[in-house]
Amino acid sequence: MTTALITGATRGLGREAARRLAQLGWTVWLGARDADAGARVAAALTHDDQDADVRVVRIDVTDDASVIAAAKTVEDAGTGLDVLINNAGIGGRFVPPGESTVPDFVQVYGVNVLGPVRVTSAFLPLLDRSPAARLIMVSSGVGSLTHANDPAHPYFGLVGLVYPSSKTALNMITSQYAKALPGIRVCAVDPGWTSTDFTDHLGTQTVTEGTDAIVRAATADSIPGVFFDRDGVVPW
Ligand SMILES: NC(=O)c1ccc[n+]([C@@H]2O[C@H](COP(=O)([O-])OP(=O)(O)OC[C@H]3O[C@@H](n4cnc5c(N)ncnc54)[C@H](OP(=O)(O)O)[C@@H]3O)[C@@H](O)[C@H]2O)c1
Repeated sequence: MTTALITGATRGLGREAARRLAQLGWTVWLGARDADAGARVAAALTHDDQDADVRVVRIDVTDDASVIAAAKTVEDAGTGLDVLINNAGIGGRFVPPGESTVPDFVQVYGVNVLGPVRVTSAFLPLLDRSPAARLIMVSSGVGSLTHANDPAHPYFGLVGLVYPSSKTALNMITSQYAKALPGIRVCAVDPGWTSTDFTDHLGTQTVTEGTDAIVRAATADSIPGVFFDRDGVVPW
């Protein structure tokens, strides 16, 4: 039996990833910063698939005590943990670079950069006990320095300081974890432009398409590289 935990699984990509992994017969810990919202999602998923083993764990990735308590909840439940998916993320204010403020950085980096580090640190002891552990960071192609500096790429024209650089930082953190944790398969994935609250539902992909790279990272015997999307490798 494989067990996964997904942060930010009350909505959007996290919820769909939870649905898809539970459908495979996995035990899925649905990370929710609002436990009631988590319980509603778990109830909906188990209503649609009565065999689904979906459990709710309260976790706010910006809060040390919450993350430590979440790790204890999973540990005490005895499910173990094979796959940790750091999915929770926020966009923050998207404003011209000159208007970005330090509080904008503190808010977005708190969730998108420090969150995955905090959660990974807390759950590493559990992952270390898995014979086939995976650590997945939900990043973004807008964090690719290659795309951002390629005038031919659509992201060249997407000029903003905070969110893109938070995902660039997450990519470097992923790259370093990948080298530092040889017993764990570590990768970052770019979901692609997906219809969720995050994109005001302007994304062109469905959440199922948007979770293809996450599900591949979680399940596939072979993955294209350390940073990839549903079509293949994404350049750093
Ligand atoms: N959608 C896209 O096109 C796209 C593209 C590239 C990358 N991504 C990345 O994909 C990930 C998921 O995005 P999404 O589109 O599914 O976004 P979403 O629909 O806005 O959902 C975000 C999730 O993160 C949770 N969250 C926010 N702050 C949190 C915190 N402090 N602690 C725990 N959970 C928190 C939210 O919980 P609440 O319900 O409690 O607010 C929600 O469950 C993000 O990392 C995003 O950067 C998305």
